[in-house]
Amino acid sequence: MYRVYVITSSDSASRGEREDLSGPEIKRMLDEFGGYEVVGSAVLPDDRDVLANEMIRVADEKAADLILTTGGTGFSQRDNMPEATMDACTRMVPGIAEAMRAYSMTKTPRGMLSRAASGIRGFTLIINLPGSVKAVRECLECVLPALDHGLDILRGDAAMCGESE
Ligand code: MTE
Repeated sequence: MYRVYVITSSDSASRGEREDLSGPEIKRMLDEFGGYEVVGSAVLPDDRDVLANEMIRVADEKAADLILTTGGTGFSQRDNMPEATMDACTRMVPGIAEAMRAYSMTKTPRGMLSRAASGIRGFTLIINLPGSVKAVRECLECVLPALDHGLDILRGDAAMCGESE
């Protein structure tokens, strides 16, 4: 089982003014896909330092193999998730965000409006998803088939690259 920590970036949901539907949708999809266990989650304000510090804490405590975030990837002045992710990561993994955007463009031209980032801190992979439930579904659908291999390599227990295809 890969351990997953879910972070929702939303000022209003963090204040309890609106229900977070996207975090629970991530858990529902992972349960359905299998092999992933959500070990924790947080609904946080759209604050760059707060978001980065939570990612750093989870990664440095080795509390999760994968951090999935939702929201805060757009153009508003309070959309800070990509910057927070770049603050937390020691190595970027642009291909994951590129693949999500390419796939998203087959669903909606607005797919290009997500600035989502993806990268690695220590032994933890961090992936930004956009905020809507629809976008979460579409982007997870795109990345899930490749993630186990990447996570195995990150943990150091993947078979020789290519042999497990
Ligand atoms: N990607 C997919 N697959 N499906 C979507 O509906 N919505 C887009 C984009 N990416 C969307 C998507 C829209 S409308 C926006 S504004 C950006 O994600 C940023 O969303 P966020 O600010 O909620 O993170």
